[in-house]
Amino acid sequence: MLTKKRASIKPSEITPESVYRSRRRFMRTSLAAAAGAAVPAFGLPASWLAERGFTAGEEIGEEITPEADATQYNNFYEFGTEKSDPAQYAHAMTIDPWTVKVSGEVAKPGEIGLEDMLAGIDLEERIYRLRCVEAWSMVIPWIGFPVKKLLDKFEPTGNAKFVEFKTLLRPQEMRGQRSLFSSIDWPYVEGLRLDEAHHPLAIFAVGMYGKLLPNQNGAPIRLVVPWKYGFKSIKSIVEIRLTARQPRNTWNVLQPSEYGFYANVNPTVDHPRWSQASEKRFPLSLFKPRIETQMFNGYGEVASLYSGMNLRRNY
Ligand code: MTE
Repeated sequence: MLTKKRASIKPSEITPESVYRSRRRFMRTSLAAAAGAAVPAFGLPASWLAERGFTAGEEIGEEITPEADATQYNNFYEFGTEKSDPAQYAHAMTIDPWTVKVSGEVAKPGEIGLEDMLAGIDLEERIYRLRCVEAWSMVIPWIGFPVKKLLDKFEPTGNAKFVEFKTLLRPQEMRGQRSLFSSIDWPYVEGLRLDEAHHPLAIFAVGMYGKLLPNQNGAPIRLVVPWKYGFKSIKSIVEIRLTARQPRNTWNVLQPSEYGFYANVNPTVDHPRWSQASEKRFPLSLFKPRIETQMFNGYGEVASLYSGMNLRRNY
């Protein structure tokens, strides 16, 4: 096979045309986003959250992770695989307007704009531990509301046993989705059993640290399930489907021997390539010892959801 010198290869020769065209479109939108950096989230003024108000969260007696760590060390593969990629590239994602479609086993399927979705719902701050399957953790003050409150608006039928969530699919704004090296089958999908989704600890977050969510943390709306590994807490949700059968979830599809459907934090079940017995807690420092990982990430009140289940097999 003939090889050309690097500099003489045009992007159009190594990239399918639709991809490099969308890349050019992406460059235009990201410039526009940079120029208008103060563009409010989903058409709401930055002061919206403060005006609307939220109940302050209960302290949990653990140091809250600095906002800079929580917003600059992220996993959001739609924008790249490096921890710094989301903070660098997620501003390219347009979040205004934003709608969420709810379908499947519900009496009232429909598509709802974010503002309508939040109408009549009280927002609360929840200070939660976030434990990533990679064995690092943070303590984050989210602002949101119980998942059940939203699902109830659509009236799940008696056949609904699971909930599937989907992230935005928009390769022209998400460099990870158009990367030729990505092995993820986009969009990112996740799922919960309906009774898990109904647990009062499971929330949709729209804010953190007293402000609307930054794009890199899953604006304008994401899931937060604090007793499960972080990959269950899917970001930037555009679709919710109630189903009778267990939905697929991205990391399980990618590597089933390493990532299960349940993904409950469990110090006694190691990842095949590393121990889950301990974790490093942000803010990181050279002399700070690792801390012991707790069953269900310390949220033991969810244990009854899994009574009689083998949690080694259902990892
Ligand atoms: N959601 C989407 N759509 N894409 C992702 O790559 N990463 C997950 C989860 N949600 C991810 C996602 C993982 S692995 C973790 S640990 C958390 O988001 C990280 O959330 P944070 O960046 O707000 O800390």
